[in-house]
Amino acid sequence: MRTFIVNGTVVNADGRADADIVVEGERIVSVVPRVGGGAQPGPDDAVIDASGCFVVPGGVDAHVHMQLDMGTMTSSDTFETGTIAAAHGGTTTIIDFAEQRLGGNVLAAFEQRMAEAESQCVVDWALHQVLGGVNEQALIDTRSLIEREGVASIKLFMAYPGRVYSNDGQILRALQMCADTGMMAMVHAENGLAIDVLIEQAIAAGNTSPEFHSRTRPPELEAEAVHRASVLARVAGNAPLYIVHLSSSHALREVTEARARGTNIFAETCPQYLHLSLEDHLGQGWPNGAAFVCSTPLRSKHEHHQADLWEGLRIDELAVVSTDHCPFCLREQKLANGELFNKVPNGIGGVEHRMDLVYQGVLAGHISLERWVEVCATAPARLFGLPTKGSLNIGNDADIVVYDPHKTHVLSAATHHMNLDHSAYEGVEVIGGVRTVLSRGEVIVDGEQFLGRKGRGRYLRREVSQHVR
Ligand code: URP
Ligand code: ZN
Ligand code: ZN
Repeated sequence: MRTFIVNGTVVNADGRADADIVVEGERIVSVVPRVGGGAQPGPDDAVIDASGCFVVPGGVDAHVHMQLDMGTMTSSDTFETGTIAAAHGGTTTIIDFAEQRLGGNVLAAFEQRMAEAESQCVVDWALHQVLGGVNEQALIDTRSLIEREGVASIKLFMAYPGRVYSNDGQILRALQMCADTGMMAMVHAENGLAIDVLIEQAIAAGNTSPEFHSRTRPPELEAEAVHRASVLARVAGNAPLYIVHLSSSHALREVTEARARGTNIFAETCPQYLHLSLEDHLGQGWPNGAAFVCSTPLRSKHEHHQADLWEGLRIDELAVVSTDHCPFCLREQKLANGELFNKVPNGIGGVEHRMDLVYQGVLAGHISLERWVEVCATAPARLFGLPTKGSLNIGNDADIVVYDPHKTHVLSAATHHMNLDHSAYEGVEVIGGVRTVLSRGEVIVDGEQFLGRKGRGRYLRREVSQHVR
């Protein structure tokens, strides 16, 4: 059976057209401009009428943490609930992380994470490999993951000393491996050692409220780490480098300067840095401020971070918007360790709202419709080696979203699908919304109805980034 998506405006990163899309099985088989009459469905074909809507590629969220094991607690979305929420928000591919901890084995960590995700995901999924204990064996094993499992990216932490932190020497070694293999090195760029000093001093001075989470992680220490990572990537032989969850003007300037020097550097930001602030959210104090503890932290609205991040997205100094979805329930998890900002598990849930929240930037005139598609789908697919995702081209997977620009809705924990007892965006009214979602040709969301199945999502072996070779 074929499915025809007719009467919509097809939007890709490189332009828009009044066109109909024909899907056969799991793939797009034609994109037919309506000036020539459009596509003609037969009596046995399914027809989705997209009149008045944009027809866009399914979103690719390149940075999520479903059921992330933090030792004493686990992030609240399972792969099942998190991917159902993603689907409702128009995201049809997620990339999560397998995590090697200090002293742990990379291949064992990868196998364990595969087993956790495999039977649960409702949309397609892939894994990056975290290196939390870089040594010779870890690098040998990680290198083998490209061939064995189609893992084309690693993640390193310059933050969180004592947990998954790597020192500069370890980062250089890992970056050398990336320069050699073409693997993308994702880096959490914050100076963790300096931050720990500031945290200790804040606590000693009695400054324990949520806003001090941000005040002890100043933008300068994000920028310094971005600079250091970019220098190390160049020294390593121009390793492909991807800065995760970039939150500040200071860090963005470092990316811009590194690019001007020819560094092979890319960066993402997240909806929370485009929409939320230190004062309005962390500044609420206990208990609600705890909901907004994430790293990198929310920044001050009195500085120019948000305007600069939107501008960075417009001019492609920022390539991607990912969510860094890492939800923890407020009472049982965020507040479980008491009212000390440094004891609150880090993370915000948002996998369901990325397409909508970035679309608000289109309405505000920050970015174009095409750029919305590019930063939410096309660029992450290209950067992370998913050539059949992220654009509506013939032969690609039929991951398609019918997006209604006239729909208005209010984001709320009462209506979202994430397994989360609060919403970082509670009460925010958004214009635009998902109407229908196809994943490899199958309608998995129709209005409010979820039609997918647990475990239908497919593991995606990935290639080396198109930006590398
Ligand atoms: O606050 C965050 N971002 N939590 C998830 C782990 C990380 O640093 O990405
Ligand atoms: Zn991080
Ligand atoms: Zn993260």
